[in-house]
Amino acid sequence: MITLGLNYSQMHDSSACLVRDGQLLFAVAEERISRVKHDARFPALAIQACLNFSKLLSDQVDEVCVGWQAPGAGYRHDLKLFATGQWPVTYLNVLNSTRNFASMWHQRGGENPFTRQLGPTKARFRFVDHHLAHALSAYSYSGFDDSAIVVMDGRGAWEATSIWHGNNGRVEHVQTINWPNSLGLFYAQFTGFLGFTPNADEWKVMGLAPYGQPGVDLSAFIDPHAAPYKVHTDRLVSNGAEYSGWPVSLGKPREPESEISDLHKNIAFAVQNMCEEAIMSVVKLAIEKTRSKNLCLAGGVALNSKANGKIVASGIIGKIFVQPAASDDGVALGAALTPFLDGGQRLPLKPMRHVYLGPTFDDDAIETALKMYKIRTSRLSDPAATAAEYLSRGKILGWYQGRMEFGPRALGSRSIIADPRDPEMNAKVNNAVKFREWWRPFAPSFKKEAAPEYLESAYDSPFMILTARVRPEKRAVIPSVTHVDGSARPQTVEKEINPLFYRLIDEFGKRTGVPVIMNTSFNLRGEAIVHTPTDAIRTFFSSGMDALVLGSFLVEK
Ligand SMILES: [Fe+2]
Repeated sequence: MITLGLNYSQMHDSSACLVRDGQLLFAVAEERISRVKHDARFPALAIQACLNFSKLLSDQVDEVCVGWQAPGAGYRHDLKLFATGQWPVTYLNVLNSTRNFASMWHQRGGENPFTRQLGPTKARFRFVDHHLAHALSAYSYSGFDDSAIVVMDGRGAWEATSIWHGNNGRVEHVQTINWPNSLGLFYAQFTGFLGFTPNADEWKVMGLAPYGQPGVDLSAFIDPHAAPYKVHTDRLVSNGAEYSGWPVSLGKPREPESEISDLHKNIAFAVQNMCEEAIMSVVKLAIEKTRSKNLCLAGGVALNSKANGKIVASGIIGKIFVQPAASDDGVALGAALTPFLDGGQRLPLKPMRHVYLGPTFDDDAIETALKMYKIRTSRLSDPAATAAEYLSRGKILGWYQGRMEFGPRALGSRSIIADPRDPEMNAKVNNAVKFREWWRPFAPSFKKEAAPEYLESAYDSPFMILTARVRPEKRAVIPSVTHVDGSARPQTVEKEINPLFYRLIDEFGKRTGVPVIMNTSFNLRGEAIVHTPTDAIRTFFSSGMDALVLGSFLVEK
């Protein structure tokens, strides 16, 4: 059986994946191919990439599974909120809600654009409850037989937070907290208040938080212990005058790109702290209700690696799996498995060990691109060793190899890499390459075996989605990947999963005694991670990177 999983909501992060007989073969977000960051349009390019990879025609697909309810479910919930006064009846609120529904209804949830853009198909279209799709994307790919599952995001059709119990390949619903009582909404509104883009720049608030001090009181917005939590939505949902009624003590909303004050840092600290408390409260409830020791997480809020690290450090759970594509791009992965729930069947329970699920370009394709731009290159016999040598000499490298990662993180296929021992490297990469905010930390990639030597709670962390504490004596050894609070967001790299990237780190370790490299995504600020060799070349020459290793080719400036 061949199923396509989709995320398509017109909101953000459209994506597609292909599953054959329960095995995930390919996944890509539309933004990588279209080059429109967080692209919300119908994921025709992503679907075509799935079909191309598998050499299939649209007519050979058995099921198309969308990780959202059929059009109308969200609208009905919105109307209920309008009628009960839980969401202000303003021109903009009503217009946006109605327009989204009308457009999706007109497109039959994606069926119409599918046949129009990809050709006729015999496939059945299936619409999957959004949080169920998130829950499956965590549980089925965790490999755990028994697990509590927690989904937290901005919103689904009606859902904001949900608890599920996965057991023996089946998933049982335990509890749902409806929108707008939403941790994602709480965090997103403050992301906007602090001058960043809501539902996209939450990372920036998380990165800024450790620079702040306790003292900002957010009890008017959230009670993080109200079994499990309560977001006081009256001030958070828009009534046409954004941030009206917010405490004067918070000051005015920050203008984008303006100075960051101590108050902004302290607000970020409080937002992160409240969010962590509320997440812990939900996790405790989920453990209690399911009587399971394992935990699976998904939904955009689960990208909060600091909160995830806190859950691990608390010791209240046994094993944890956070779906690396925790945001809405990942619902494609869960939706594609729903046919396995029909008639009391069981889900496949296969641990997801990597996210190298996207398109790849071989040396011939890379060489064609390099020749087209008349770029002088040299061919490397050992790209890992050459890259390690360059890193040890302080060079900043683009590293473009193999299949592209699915999810928000670059994990050794489309990465910018550098020497983590240089305390200035953070600033160098920020200013010369990423052009991003000074306070955002960079992450380290470790040889898996070396991680315990550097990290206090070295949980297996292949996806950079759990924060850990760097051992105090090691903070000065890898200063550019240690955050101001002594934490890091590690990737642990296994030899059998990504031998080339592992060897690069190993070779760097042999030269320097430190088997750790700085690893950030291969893109410029505000752009999607590079997809084709041409994207990589263009980004390389638009930045301060010193050299680029593309497949077996080296490009230098
Ligand atoms: Fe979601």
